Amino acid sequence: MLNVAILGASGYTGAELIRLLHLHPEVRITALSAESQAGQTLHETFPHLAQLPDMKLQRIEEIDFTEVGLVFCCLPHATTQVVLASLPAHLKIIDLSADFRLRDPKVYEEWYGHPHHALDLQRDAVYGLSEHARADVASARLVANPGCYPTASLLPLLPLIKDGLLSLEGIVIDAKSGVSGAGRSVKRNLLFTELDEGMSAYSVGHHRHTPEIEQGLSAAAGQAVLVNFTPHLIPMKRGMIATIYATLVQGKTWQDAATSLRNAYQNEPFIELMAGQKFPSTHAVRGSNRCQIGLYRGRRPQDLILVSAIDNLVKGASGQAVQNMNLMYGWRETLALDAIPVYP
Ligand SMILES: NC(=O)c1ccc[n+]([C@@H]2O[C@H](COP(=O)([O-])OP(=O)(O)OC[C@H]3O[C@@H](n4cnc5c(N)ncnc54)[C@H](OP(=O)(O)O)[C@@H]3O)[C@@H](O)[C@H]2O)c1
Repeated sequence: MLNVAILGASGYTGAELIRLLHLHPEVRITALSAESQAGQTLHETFPHLAQLPDMKLQRIEEIDFTEVGLVFCCLPHATTQVVLASLPAHLKIIDLSADFRLRDPKVYEEWYGHPHHALDLQRDAVYGLSEHARADVASARLVANPGCYPTASLLPLLPLIKDGLLSLEGIVIDAKSGVSGAGRSVKRNLLFTELDEGMSAYSVGHHRHTPEIEQGLSAAAGQAVLVNFTPHLIPMKRGMIATIYATLVQGKTWQDAATSLRNAYQNEPFIELMAGQKFPSTHAVRGSNRCQIGLYRGRRPQDLILVSAIDNLVKGASGQAVQNMNLMYGWRETLALDAIPVYP
């Protein structure tokens, strides 16, 4: 049995990890941390988990990590790097924050506004987009779990870029997220009255997931790729959909793109390819680790439209984290991730 601790267990991604890990035959949760909710029990913090054994939420400094093998870290960015740098060296780590996703510390500083405080850890971190990083994740000590928007964007685009099918100019990502993407802490702009019956764009042209998406695309292309990425907040609790507009390079066809996606994903347990009159939907992936990817023709022969749907809390966070743990420990990749989506 692997003993795991979840730091930041009183938030949304922490709750999802507890829900998923409870079904994992090789894992035992031995510690849960919280900050403002420390001292509460799991049942008090999350009544929907009342059928699980109750545990106290502790402050991080109260946790004894001696018998723990793996830490899932669900803390806010910036706090994360300070906390992880202070943990015992024997621990493996899967970090859900943005702190270890960007390879270049200068890019991190430019987008996050301060120097990175754990460069030793940062150097060894592996970016864990599971389907594209299996070998690296398997041997990693620290996995930087991808962001939700980057997961929804990179999964459809990477095979096409790797196969040299797309123009690297003018890729547009128009994405929408449910409100749980912003976490569980109280914020005025996330009040029901502010959100319900409305939809808004935010961080237009400068969202911090932009360099993460560009980093993945640039590595696949072997040259710098810039994208225009616009996120939107929509009045639903969970789910994310990305609509991506791209252009085929001269001489390549829609069929080439379809073949590329099929070659990359036809045997992937968590990826469902769609085309024609079948369209990705957040309803079809809700509560599951699945990603639906649709490929469609645009108005001109070289225009492609890709649409992807994930659950931001599962494939976009805790589910992919469990998938990465399964890879790190050589377990079946789908362990604890077989859940059928919740509908409606
Ligand atoms: N939500 C998503 O869809 C999503 C997707 C991908 C990645 N992520 C990333 O995953 C991380 C967790 O996200 P989340 O949505 O679960 O956030 P959340 O709901 O806001 O939860 C944050 C957790 O961190 C704890 N915490 C906050 N400040 C702390 C501090 N200074 N020291 C120790 N613990 C502290 C909170 O404890 P208390 O509540 O007890 O204060 C809570 O347990 C974030 O970095 C986020 O960017 C989130």
